[in-house]
Amino acid sequence: MTTNTRIDFNDEDSKTSNNPAFETVLDTRLSRRSLFKGAGMAGAAAGATALGGCATTMGGSTTQTLGSLGFKPVAKSRADAVVVPEGYTARVIYALGDPLTAATPAFKNDGTDADFGNRAGDHHDGIEWFGLDASGKPSDTFASRGLLAMNHEATTDEKLSSFFIHANGGTSTLPRPAAEIDKELMIHGISVAEVQTDGKQWAYKPASGFNRRVTTMTEVAVSGPAKGSEHLATVYSPDGTKARGTLNNCGTGRTPWGTFVSGEENWFGYFFRDAKDDERRKKDKQVQALNRYGRKAGAPSRHGWESGGTTDTYARWNNGALATSAKEDFRNEMNTFGYIVELDPYNTGAKLVKRTALGRFGHENVTFDRVAAGQPVVAYMGDDARGEYIYKFVSTAVWDPKDAQGSNRLAAGDKYLDKGTLFAARFKDDGTGEWMELSLNNPIIANSSYFEFKTAADVAVFTRLAADAVQATKMDRPEWAGVNPKNGEVYITLTNNSNRTLATADAANPRVYTDMKAGKEQKGNVNGHIVRLAHGKPTDTAFKWDIYLFASEAGADKATVNLSNLTDDNDLSSPDGLVFSNATGVCWIQTDDGAYTDTTNCMLLAALPGQRGDGGTKTLNHGNKQVTTHVGKAQTPATLKRFLVGPKGAEITGITETPDGRAIFVNVQHAGENTQMANVNDPSKYESQWPANAGYGAGKRPRSATIVITKNDGGVIGT
Ligand code: FEO
Ligand code: CA
Ligand code: CA
Ligand code: CA
Repeated sequence: MTTNTRIDFNDEDSKTSNNPAFETVLDTRLSRRSLFKGAGMAGAAAGATALGGCATTMGGSTTQTLGSLGFKPVAKSRADAVVVPEGYTARVIYALGDPLTAATPAFKNDGTDADFGNRAGDHHDGIEWFGLDASGKPSDTFASRGLLAMNHEATTDEKLSSFFIHANGGTSTLPRPAAEIDKELMIHGISVAEVQTDGKQWAYKPASGFNRRVTTMTEVAVSGPAKGSEHLATVYSPDGTKARGTLNNCGTGRTPWGTFVSGEENWFGYFFRDAKDDERRKKDKQVQALNRYGRKAGAPSRHGWESGGTTDTYARWNNGALATSAKEDFRNEMNTFGYIVELDPYNTGAKLVKRTALGRFGHENVTFDRVAAGQPVVAYMGDDARGEYIYKFVSTAVWDPKDAQGSNRLAAGDKYLDKGTLFAARFKDDGTGEWMELSLNNPIIANSSYFEFKTAADVAVFTRLAADAVQATKMDRPEWAGVNPKNGEVYITLTNNSNRTLATADAANPRVYTDMKAGKEQKGNVNGHIVRLAHGKPTDTAFKWDIYLFASEAGADKATVNLSNLTDDNDLSSPDGLVFSNATGVCWIQTDDGAYTDTTNCMLLAALPGQRGDGGTKTLNHGNKQVTTHVGKAQTPATLKRFLVGPKGAEITGITETPDGRAIFVNVQHAGENTQMANVNDPSKYESQWPANAGYGAGKRPRSATIVITKNDGGVIGT
């Protein structure tokens, strides 16, 4: 790698070359920096308020489903600031390094800070609100005190090092110093932080007894079909019943019984396998799975953590079959990642649990369908890599409404998430679709010649191969799923896919086009889309679908690209986060973009969606190939409006709200990520100085952070 070239591990391909009838994909790509080095542009958009400024008040009236979006749209912006509509205020409340105990020193933000196990982690991502009443008991209605549980997905890295957290940028060659790795191991994971408002201003509570960190080093229980599987045996847990840590946690969810769930996404890039490992493993069927999951023999690791020493802390990141049996080495360590993990945010002593029944893949988030007494609990999930699948889980146990208020929340998790059936989606051209069962009850799985499935653990651990076997539909990078509380329709963002070609374009992934950025061509499905599924009832294995929204530049061709009729008030690229507000019914859409960033930083939009089938069919002409698809109705600024634009280099990801809808919490990830490591101590060369330039915290190094947004008149967000 040169200084300008970076493997973008957060925008990862799965290795689908073993996947029947699918094109070979690239292993590495140029970074967004080297591809998209745009000129800087300053100045917040006219008519909008930059971050910082006046105090807010919280009102107390009840909320209602919004009939219209009341705010004035925010213009596209390349300012190094969070921009929100007139009449709204955004404030930073919780950033990388902030102390989570009374004894932890303030964050200096100069690369010398330590003790990250007691500080906010890096790369804030999915986030969920868990309310507390005045006495500190769990509350679904109290709106001025609560816990924010959130993911810390990754770190701003270049050439192995996580450079902003090391004084001089850290070591970019192997072997890496243990002291640097020790910090990096602790900035990943999950945090829980208590927040409250005094009626004027929100703040987090650094000394709250509820505050908690979970890192790559925390002991985790394995639950569901893979518990005790030979595939999970390691020297740390020879019987495969426990694991260590959670990693690359991306999207989140909230269970109907009040726990936090988090998806382990691009974990495979953290492991090293030497070039001889295939030979050593001989006929081990895991070699096929390792390739399919992105770890070819000889694959380098993202941070070189395996190079820090011979103790388990470092050795576990070497995924090679090095000893005589799996119980004596870490050849299976990678199989202990890739799950949905569940945490009880109210109980700092409760163990983190890996829910293996929900499958192992590049989990974005998990969203739950509306529950009904006596009916199974149903959840939807995306696997974020090019050409990967959309999944559904249906519990064996049926919903008991008493569990919504129970105090043993992880026991409810055991009940609903450890036994059930997993499905992968197959989209048909006619606008219908089918959920394909991934279990040994399905003869396609039981008799597969593609991969040997003998047990439920085989399906839980090698889920991508099971979905290959049933020929699920390869999608344009499935990210967040969300369920519309009004009608139960399921929305899934498909962020973009540079590998989509005319040969593989289909009704559910119909766009293939060229877009220009700074004089360079971008190809495939450059800007992404959002697919929408409707079921008769949640447990149905048949569904109908359409494409709710095609992300696009406003100026793009309306016949082939800008199919949703977007304008300057609502055009976007690379939808990723998608969360429905329970308070208002607003569908919040967030972007993680590298394609339109010559024009605008990443953003948050508010949508009032209609319903599946409200737009009819449309035929796209790709020269001599036509693709007919099913589209949602065209958008207008009344149905889709830009609410926020973030600082430079940042992704906007994760959003949650107080139950009254009067405060939303939004995460701003990796501002300044395109800074060169050589400039780590030259703030004038940082791509971003946010949130320091918004008045938050010491130093000038950019930090991932949580912001709270309130309406200056105390009203409901979006009105
Ligand atoms: Fe971590 Fe798919 O975004
Ligand atoms: Ca462009
Ligand atoms: Ca994401
Ligand atoms: Ca993304």
